Amino acid sequence: MSRKKIALIGGGQIGGVLAQLAALRQLGNVVMFDIVEDMPQGKTLDIAEAARVDGFDVNITGTNDYKDIKDADLVIITAGLPRKPGMSRDDLLTTNAKIMKSVAENVKQYAPNSIVIIISNPLDAMVTLFKKVTGFPSNKVIGQAGVLDSSRFSSFIAWELGVSVKDVNAMVLGGHGDTMVPIVRYANVNGIPAVELLEKKFGDKAKAKEVMKNMVERTKMAGGEVIKLLKTGSAFYSPASSAIAMAESILFDEKRVLPVCAYLNGEFGINGYYVGVPAVLGSNGVEKVIEFELDSEEKALLDNSVNAVKTLVADMERLGF
Ligand code: APR
Repeated sequence: MSRKKIALIGGGQIGGVLAQLAALRQLGNVVMFDIVEDMPQGKTLDIAEAARVDGFDVNITGTNDYKDIKDADLVIITAGLPRKPGMSRDDLLTTNAKIMKSVAENVKQYAPNSIVIIISNPLDAMVTLFKKVTGFPSNKVIGQAGVLDSSRFSSFIAWELGVSVKDVNAMVLGGHGDTMVPIVRYANVNGIPAVELLEKKFGDKAKAKEVMKNMVERTKMAGGEVIKLLKTGSAFYSPASSAIAMAESILFDEKRVLPVCAYLNGEFGINGYYVGVPAVLGSNGVEKVIEFELDSEEKALLDNSVNAVKTLVADMERLGF
């Protein structure tokens, strides 16, 4: 059996961590593409030269030529520019949509059978555009947001309750923005509702509710919290780890149930849009969207988030994409 080929489009901050994690976990041979001359070659050479110490033996190379991603099984895209001072949201959308269009055309040409995970922002628009340009089946074009947002929410719950994060399950649905929807009702520690544990901790329902509300707000703003501290750039370790979890489920056909940005055909009452929902990820990409009952408050929050996605996609279309 031959090794899988993983193409990373974008060799910046997230691309670098993706390459290292993919190598450490021996997910397959890695090729990193970037438009910056020599940079992906340098970054991957640096990672490859640690193989003896780290004990991996996959091939890891960098390129400025799309031909080298030929027949990749899995493509992970982080190409794009971050928002700069003075740049409007529309400016950023136009810039990154142009980049995504060229990336999509090249992936379509050189890796037409690949499964694609997109991380570039604004995520919901970028995933929509990639699918439109390539015409790839929707199960093979997936966005990464929910795995990270859910991991952040789980971390905050674990820290607050003083328990291992390994035992916390919490899920965030909706678009990748301020309107995302952390699902409080199902957040739990080894099956025990997190809210119940907070109530026990504080001996006070109102206080428990307030603490949970703060964790929900922190989750929604977590990307910004990291940006504010870093000052130059945005989160890169955690987005890379999250995409690698999705990649593993696909490459090893694990069928994990992960919250991902998936194309919906009526699930949760949503038709024709990419939205964060729980899905089974396996060797066919998104193999099934897992629907479950939302209460009226959750439904209203999800509708609000879907409206934000619709506005974003409409803006992108207005800008000519
Ligand atoms: N083709 C390929 N790569 C490109 C292109 C292009 N047309 N245009 C830009 N790039 C590359 C840049 O050269 C850079 O190396 O994309 C890379 C982006 O890397 P960073 O600026 O370091 O950004 P990063 O932190 O990795 O985030 C990437 O993911 O989470 C999102 O908001 C984030 O959209 C951003 C993306």
